[in-house]
Amino acid sequence: MYSKFKSLGFLSLFILMAFYSLQDLQLIYPDHFPKPVYDFKKNPLKQSTIDLGRKLFYDPILSRDHTISCSSCHLSDQAFSHAGNHLSKGIEDGIGDRNSPVIFNLAWQKTFMWDGSVVNIDVQALAPINHPKEMGEDINVAVRKLNQSKEYKMLFYKSFGDSLATSERLMKALSQFQLTIVSANAKYDKVKQGKAKFTASENKGYQLFKQSCSSCHSEPLFSTYEFANNGLSYNSELKDYGKWNKTFESADKMMFKIPSLRNLAYTYPYMHDGRFKTLNEVLEHYENGIVKRPTLAKQLEKPIVFDPKEKEDLLAFLATLNDSVLVSNPEFQNK
Ligand code: HEC
Ligand code: HEC
Repeated sequence: MYSKFKSLGFLSLFILMAFYSLQDLQLIYPDHFPKPVYDFKKNPLKQSTIDLGRKLFYDPILSRDHTISCSSCHLSDQAFSHAGNHLSKGIEDGIGDRNSPVIFNLAWQKTFMWDGSVVNIDVQALAPINHPKEMGEDINVAVRKLNQSKEYKMLFYKSFGDSLATSERLMKALSQFQLTIVSANAKYDKVKQGKAKFTASENKGYQLFKQSCSSCHSEPLFSTYEFANNGLSYNSELKDYGKWNKTFESADKMMFKIPSLRNLAYTYPYMHDGRFKTLNEVLEHYENGIVKRPTLAKQLEKPIVFDPKEKEDLLAFLATLNDSVLVSNPEFQNK
């Protein structure tokens, strides 16, 4: 009798586990992508949590005066950058000290922010919420506001089986939404999948890219997501030496996270301080603008020179990295 009861217990436990794992979603990405580095076991994707994360991402309730949401600086139709703004704009017209980066393919990144100062995406949201020039809010107050909302209590219940909003749950939900933002539908991806072909010019540009750029902006994510000094001059107004600002190690001077080159059409201006408005200015930098410092990347010690035809080809290739499906996907927009 006892043993029968015990096996029934195991059976129901098994059914319960199967039920929960059925609810877990898998991140969708193509075969030519590597495995994500994010550990989904510690924050399993669920549709209800992704939906909660999306709602939070678009809700100015997380800012002190309810005027700024994550989406104020990360816009879905601009690959989640803030096109046209060289520095971020936050609460009470505060101007931040860096360019709003893109948000896509986060599941493949080990570190976040231009200087890698955040190593866990599940706590990243603390930074903008607390930043005096971004959202200017105390995380505890933000959480209290969510707990005063009947709608949020219901949504937290659906996601976590408990209606209490906590900062950990808030950030896990924001992570889930952001982790689902995968950019893998550019022409480049279709070529890799055998569904499209490069033009002659794109193909020449691809070869030039592989010679001069792909050691840092490597395929298929178009970044190694490591750090490098790509020869930018120091911005004395912003006093930004990249990683060095946090570590004070001389080896970190002017080391910034290598950004992906996907979706450049939507994400101008470029670099950590948005100093270049166009891709031609970027190429001009790699040709004539490199500042020599001990930390300068070896690959950039000699200028990268392209003739006008080569520039055209390289730009044609870079344009194949623009993912129009990403920037128009209703799943990533405010619902
Ligand atoms: C006022 C503009 C602004 C707001 C509001 C804002 N961000 Fe950002 N975000 C930035 C800037 C600027 C950076 C880069 C900061 C740095 O490098 O120090 C950034 C960086 C990030 C990154 C790191 C991306 C990477 O690849 O390293 C993520 C993720 C992110 N923000 C998500 C969010 C979320 C979630 C919210 C809302 C809770 C939010 N942001 C609100 C401007 C903003
Ligand atoms: C040694 C590594 C390295 C090489 C080689 C390199 N880059 Fe970069 N690139 C970087 C880093 C680091 C940044 C970010 C610097 C910053 O903002 O402080 C960057 C930024 C960029 C940006 C700005 C992207 C954005 O979102 O702001 C573009 C565009 C770019 N590189 C294109 C190229 C092209 C084209 C080549 C080849 C001609 C190239 N890079 C070669 C390291 C490299």
